[in-house]
Amino acid sequence: MNSEAERRADPRSFVRRSGRTTSAQKRALKELWPRYGVDETGALPPLKEVFGREARTVLEIGFGNGKTLVRAAAESPQFNFLGVEVHRPGLGRCLLEAERAGLSNLRLMQADAVEVLRSQLPQASVAMVCLYFPDPWPRKRHHKRRLVQPGFIALLERALEPGGMFHVATDWSPYAEHIEGVMDGMTAFERLASPPARCATRFELRGSALGHKIWEAAYRLRPLA
Ligand SMILES: C[S@@+](CC[C@H](N)C(=O)[O-])C[C@H]1O[C@@H](n2cnc3c(N)ncnc32)[C@H](O)[C@@H]1O
Repeated sequence: MNSEAERRADPRSFVRRSGRTTSAQKRALKELWPRYGVDETGALPPLKEVFGREARTVLEIGFGNGKTLVRAAAESPQFNFLGVEVHRPGLGRCLLEAERAGLSNLRLMQADAVEVLRSQLPQASVAMVCLYFPDPWPRKRHHKRRLVQPGFIALLERALEPGGMFHVATDWSPYAEHIEGVMDGMTAFERLASPPARCATRFELRGSALGHKIWEAAYRLRPLA
């Protein structure tokens, strides 16, 4: 199947919410995008050029307001952090936080992460992929819109370095069971005894306040034999 046909066959994992963009976010999108933004059009330049240095890269998919991403980037300056999100106000919020934290190891893309994984990121270029509280798509007829599917994990397998990690969390128990089922079928990955530390996200706090149990796991791409 060619990539155009694949694109059409894929149900999207998001709906483009309009949401209000505040004037501070609009300013950030205009003034800070040249510093932190990576335009999706055309081929992605090598990550060394994107970040202006050579360092291992962490990819966060669907970072929402970006608080967790900015905190991780501030706490781990030895890594490059690439955040991919479709929601424009979220990108604006994240830019404001990045500026406040004075980060130089963060870059953002406004894009569908599936397309970024499929056609923009080089093979074996990412040390860790973070997917925190992805949209659970609770209705059965929408399950096909969930990001975690065998095809998506195959894209992660391609993008991750050997030994690289997939860190995933959800507050929706049926989605957790679905993820475990998908990952059980992916023999290239092994589940780690415990996931790495991270700070709480906005959707996690919301889920916890509703009494949802937080499920979290880390899977390692087995190193080459
Ligand atoms: C439920 S929110 C969670 C946000 C954040 N991770 C948190 O925990 O607070 C899911 C986010 O994923 C984004 N998203 C969904 N599918 C995406 C995709 N294919 N590419 C990039 N972002 C996506 C949505 O726009 C939304 O902001």
